[in-house]
Amino acid sequence: MSLEINNLTVELCADKHKHKGNCINVADSLFLSVNEGEVVSIVGESGSGKSFLGLSILRLNPQGVSKIISGEIKIKCKSQDKEIDILRLKPEELIGIRGRLISMIFQDPNTSLNPVMKIGEQITEAILAHKKVSKKSAKDTAIQYLNSMNIDGFARFGSYPYELSGGMRQRVMIAMAMVLNPCFLIADEPTTALDVTTSLQVLKLIKEIKEKSNIGVIFITHDLTVARSISDRTYVFYAGQIMESGNTENIINEPAHPYTVSLIKSIPSLSADYVPKQKLFTIPGFLTKDDFKKGKCRFYSRCFKRDDECLKDIALRNFKDLEKGGNGGRDVRCVKVNGL
Ligand SMILES: Nc1ncnc2c1ncn2[C@@H]1O[C@H](COP(=O)(O)OP(=O)(O)O)[C@@H](O)[C@H]1O
Ligand code: SF4
Ligand SMILES: [Mg+2]
Repeated sequence: MSLEINNLTVELCADKHKHKGNCINVADSLFLSVNEGEVVSIVGESGSGKSFLGLSILRLNPQGVSKIISGEIKIKCKSQDKEIDILRLKPEELIGIRGRLISMIFQDPNTSLNPVMKIGEQITEAILAHKKVSKKSAKDTAIQYLNSMNIDGFARFGSYPYELSGGMRQRVMIAMAMVLNPCFLIADEPTTALDVTTSLQVLKLIKEIKEKSNIGVIFITHDLTVARSISDRTYVFYAGQIMESGNTENIINEPAHPYTVSLIKSIPSLSADYVPKQKLFTIPGFLTKDDFKKGKCRFYSRCFKRDDECLKDIALRNFKDLEKGGNGGRDVRCVKVNGL
């Protein structure tokens, strides 16, 4: 069982007329893979294109403004006899993929659930849309899945989303994502809107699901500490490109790319030289649309190591010596990292 993304490029245009100069590659020549029973994280700051990537895997990227230009998204599940390339499917064939083979937990549970429909009915509807089962059987399954998310399914079946806490709504979203037994799950910042305790419960739940169902998970987050707690491998993402990838622990212990180094320095709990009351390091500047443009390293405007050598497109290259005990090898996109 595997999901493999090869050379995926997604274009985003600021206006519908696609005037030259108004378009960027919000995903730029991406290579990414996840195997069964594996969690991979995509870590990067807001506006990097992480949600776009998640949505593009299901071909749910906003139409009109964005377009998948090239690439392959190959998926092989136990329930399928052959590998499928999602990008080659006809629109009507996508219904057999979404929810059934790949599910997504969307970034905001408050807007993803229908506010005027009971939560149990929303889960039942998802089952009935894909499976030929009776209404009673779908309802029983919905209750069972709510129970497995530590929500009293019987008592809460008739609740509306507004009657639940943020953590419960997120768990309803996870129940809905898992109810068709997909082989891959894309979780888009599922803990961002939650307090620390609830966030830990949701992370624990996702780990349990992965262990029980042996599914592959793509976990999107802006938080390296969250990535560390849940994932085997990490892709560090910036302005539509992978800057560094490899075993999560190895990346955190020995970051190679200046962006990863800066990210780690700005987290107090991970920074070895953190002194209480000392001003916390922040990466200068902001991520802007210009950073997505070609002809220079995308991290150039904020990088502490930049010089004229970086004023060209930088390729992602394999860094063999850096990965100790990792299973994915280390790739780094920087001209200043030795050993590439
Ligand atoms: N529906 C949309 N229409 C146009 N631009 C969008 C849309 N959604 C997001 N964007 C832009 O695409 C870029 C990537 O966004 P997104 O994938 O949401 O980033 P992330 O999830 O990493 O925060 C951002 O610059 C954002 O402003
Ligand atoms: S290529 Fe240059 S600008 Fe880009 S991360 Fe490396 S040192 Fe910084
Ligand atoms: Mg997002």
